[in-house]
Amino acid sequence: MKIIEAKNYEEMSRIASEKVQACIIENIQLNLGLATGSTPIGLYKHLISSNKKGDVSFRNVTTFNLDEYVKLSQTDPNSYRYFMNEELFNHVDIDKNNTHVPNGEATDLDQECLDYENKIREAGGIDLQILGIGANGHIGFNEPGTSFQSRTQIVKLDEQTREANSRFFDSMDDVPTHAITTGIGTIMDSKEIILLISGSAKKEAYERLINGEVSEEFPASVLQNHSNCIVIVDKESIS
Ligand code: F6R
Repeated sequence: MKIIEAKNYEEMSRIASEKVQACIIENIQLNLGLATGSTPIGLYKHLISSNKKGDVSFRNVTTFNLDEYVKLSQTDPNSYRYFMNEELFNHVDIDKNNTHVPNGEATDLDQECLDYENKIREAGGIDLQILGIGANGHIGFNEPGTSFQSRTQIVKLDEQTREANSRFFDSMDDVPTHAITTGIGTIMDSKEIILLISGSAKKEAYERLINGEVSEEFPASVLQNHSNCIVIVDKESIS
């Protein structure tokens, strides 16, 4: 795991954006794994601006998002499909048919998980995966205790995660209890990973990631075993 200490959120986002762009320029048909949440928004802003300037094109890029809430419609402003459209896809030259987010409204959710995992495999796997981290160490929605071998599955969200995400909902009762997430095994199969860490709430998670042991009780610790993982940390917010 390589650690890059960015001086603030802006620098973290810029460094990540330069890395993503370099990967797309090297492989215009990149399979890009994406995350939602507050942390990657700055990265997406940089990518949009580079795309508008003509520095990078998403025309041949395929994306796979990590996760989606169960039972939220894709048009619900809190769904991750909606988030991705608003924060990135609507503003760049990507073909929406090449953007994939698990369908939390599927009538057969187990089948949806299998299909999503197969779709990633058939595309040739994820070339570059962007990750954020939960205060409890979750990656995707893989909460503490998830097997490192896990594949795309339905998960029950930790109360800590529901509380953290309740800032986007009208009330705690509206926060979904379940989600579809790609598994830790799925994430670890990515050829390259960039983990972004920002925010005072992530201070302990960062300490544990770099100094703690590899344990299923702290899902992100598995990244210590990945051969090509870069952690870009916003030092200003963590210190
Ligand atoms: C979202 C995801 C989650 C978030 C994590 C941090 O697709 O995979 O693991 O990355 O919950 O969220 P923020 O960035 O909002 O602190």
